[in-house]
Amino acid sequence: MKYALITDHLVKELYGKTLLEHLKAQGHDIQLFSFPAGEPSKTRATKQQLEDALLSQGYGRDTTLLALGGGVVTDLVGFLASTFCRGVHLILIPTTLLAMVDAAIGGKTGVNTELGKNMIGTFYFPQSLLIHPGFLKTLPEEEMFNGKVEMLKAGLIADAGFFQAFEKIPLENAIARAIEIKRRIVALDPHEKGLRRTLNCGHTIGHAVETLSRYTISHGRAVAAGIVLESRMAYEMGLLKKESLEQIEERFPPVSIAFSPEEILNILRTDKKSSHGYPRFVLLQEIGIPLACAGEYCIEVPLEILTQVLHDAAMCAC
Ligand SMILES: NC(=O)c1ccc[n+]([C@@H]2O[C@H](COP(=O)([O-])OP(=O)(O)OC[C@H]3O[C@@H](n4cnc5c(N)ncnc54)[C@H](O)[C@@H]3O)[C@@H](O)[C@H]2O)c1
Ligand SMILES: [Zn+2]
Repeated sequence: MKYALITDHLVKELYGKTLLEHLKAQGHDIQLFSFPAGEPSKTRATKQQLEDALLSQGYGRDTTLLALGGGVVTDLVGFLASTFCRGVHLILIPTTLLAMVDAAIGGKTGVNTELGKNMIGTFYFPQSLLIHPGFLKTLPEEEMFNGKVEMLKAGLIADAGFFQAFEKIPLENAIARAIEIKRRIVALDPHEKGLRRTLNCGHTIGHAVETLSRYTISHGRAVAAGIVLESRMAYEMGLLKKESLEQIEERFPPVSIAFSPEEILNILRTDKKSSHGYPRFVLLQEIGIPLACAGEYCIEVPLEILTQVLHDAAMCAC
């Protein structure tokens, strides 16, 4: 078996070279490959460069790819593993909190194109997943925040106790619990016909905010704002209790968005959950319980409520 350790240039310096030496010392036939860190690298071009590099080094059917890094690495290398020689062994070693609890769980792989994020990809599960929270010691605060927002989201859609006790739970246990929640949801609905949509809680508005900011607002910040705004909608629709909304608002930073309701609505129409050009949202009926909506797990919000909530949040930004 030939092994290829694939990572980005930052993680290569932090952990990649050491891991390579360690595995070589154990007698494994292994080489290191890397590409520039960051979302702009998550492309078909990077995948192709890696494929050509692997082939030129004699890698074939008998290959195991080790993906070491954040979600960019695990998504890209996962996709590569699913098509290289029609599918080779894959070991995911996520090094960001977001990748540990989200990107490396659930089998989605992919790359971005000019016309959309994650538009080209596959479902492909790794043979092994190694979670080592020690990697997080070097992770910047803002990247930790991105991961924590996804963990809180997991609590919101499936485990009220986890959401409520989040700050008190040791990080390692919290990681395990968040992984467990996502795994359970994915097992019940692997191809996102219904329940898996709940993982999009806060992401409908979140994606619109990210897109309008041209990705200057981080995923975590945008989704945190999305969770609060979508919870306000649920409250205005009479679904979520006032106390629950207040608990949610307390957990996340105060929201003020610099975009008008019209700008956001324009983006929302293209969301994958939209029906007839009208956006639909994953809403909570209680903390820990998403609204099922006959198994659709998303619902239209009356335009009046939608624009009012967006309008109020935009007012705060002035
Ligand atoms: N497949 C899925 O289901 C799924 C789910 C959620 C997100 N994603 C994808 O994940 C990607 C985002 O993942 P991400 O936030 O991990 O981004 P990322 O991979 O870009 O990592 C963020 C930054 O942290 C650096 N880094 C990684 N590990 C580090 C460490 N231990 N110490 C210091 N720095 C470290 C990276 O080099 C990078 O600069 C997006 O492309 C998104 O689409 C996929
Ligand atoms: Zn997310």
